[in-house]
Amino acid sequence: MHVVAIYNNKGGEGKSTVTVGLAEFLAANRGKKVLVIDLDAQASSSCALLGHKSLNAAIDEGRTVVELAAYLRRSRRPIVECSKYLTWRAGAEARGAALEEIALLVPDGDRMFDVEDSMRWGQHNHLFLEHLKPALTEFDFVLIDLPSNVTKASMISVNGLAMADFVVVPTRSTHISLNGLPRTFSLIDQVRDVSGTGRPAVLGFLLNATNKTHQQYRSIVKPVVEASTDGSLPPFFKNHWTPSPALEAATDEDRDARTLKERFGAGYDRARLVARELETACDKFEFQPVKPVSRSIWERLGLA
Ligand SMILES: Nc1ncnc2c1ncn2[C@@H]1O[C@H](COP(=O)(O)OP(=O)(O)OP(=O)(O)O)[C@@H](O)[C@H]1O
Ligand SMILES: [Mg+2]
Repeated sequence: MHVVAIYNNKGGEGKSTVTVGLAEFLAANRGKKVLVIDLDAQASSSCALLGHKSLNAAIDEGRTVVELAAYLRRSRRPIVECSKYLTWRAGAEARGAALEEIALLVPDGDRMFDVEDSMRWGQHNHLFLEHLKPALTEFDFVLIDLPSNVTKASMISVNGLAMADFVVVPTRSTHISLNGLPRTFSLIDQVRDVSGTGRPAVLGFLLNATNKTHQQYRSIVKPVVEASTDGSLPPFFKNHWTPSPALEAATDEDRDARTLKERFGAGYDRARLVARELETACDKFEFQPVKPVSRSIWERLGLA
């Protein structure tokens, strides 16, 4: 099992869209058993995968991350049977690469913040790591869609990051986007398990909505790519997502897509290649203690 958090502290970089793309391709194209944990009160990835009706039903029936976090906060005992908190998006009947079943753990709006109020940094960081992660071994991939603007008070998100083996950082290739990276790394570095397992490790930056032939890519992103090539920063995924109306529409909940082709249209190849690259990178990754990215590196890149 690989637990992968999709996180960039800046909003709108593509976290939810990438989460949905990875989930659908890992399930339908790579034959993986996938769970999506949506920790954003906005519920973008839950809506995209389930639709509003099923999301609201899950909330009404108390199958959300809020109930789960509240249980762990109270009992500090392992989850034995996690299925009562999960909702399944059924697979589709169709020729070709039909959409496959995906499990979801959905958020519950503002109630997320109520539970977080009762949790404390340093005291409750590892509830998910210790008591939820061991109950998820039936899944090949657990993808965690994080919100933006996470702080040390966002204890559900902190728990999500702390239970992750890997973080994927989607980023657009504008200066404003890259400016969000130091803050993103600062939280990952603070959450990283101090026991020296190196988790969560930043698996890589995933360029989203990027056209590599544009001058903007050459002048803005290249220096950051170079810093990652010399080991100062984690690597970039070799594959990336282009700006694409098809990828933009892939999270529309009212699309009646039954296959990967119907859902991702012209974005199919991009999404497939990135999912494949993620799978390989997770499988071959060797964990080792990680040094936080030093401020001087961000300063050298003009991002701090
Ligand atoms: N490659 C792309 N091409 C075109 N549009 C895209 C692409 N990736 C994402 N988008 C669009 O950009 C917007 C932001 O994407 P998304 O919601 O996935 O970002 P996010 O990081 O999850 O945002 P938030 O921080 O609000 O959770 C959405 O409207 C989405 O459809
Ligand atoms: Mg999102």
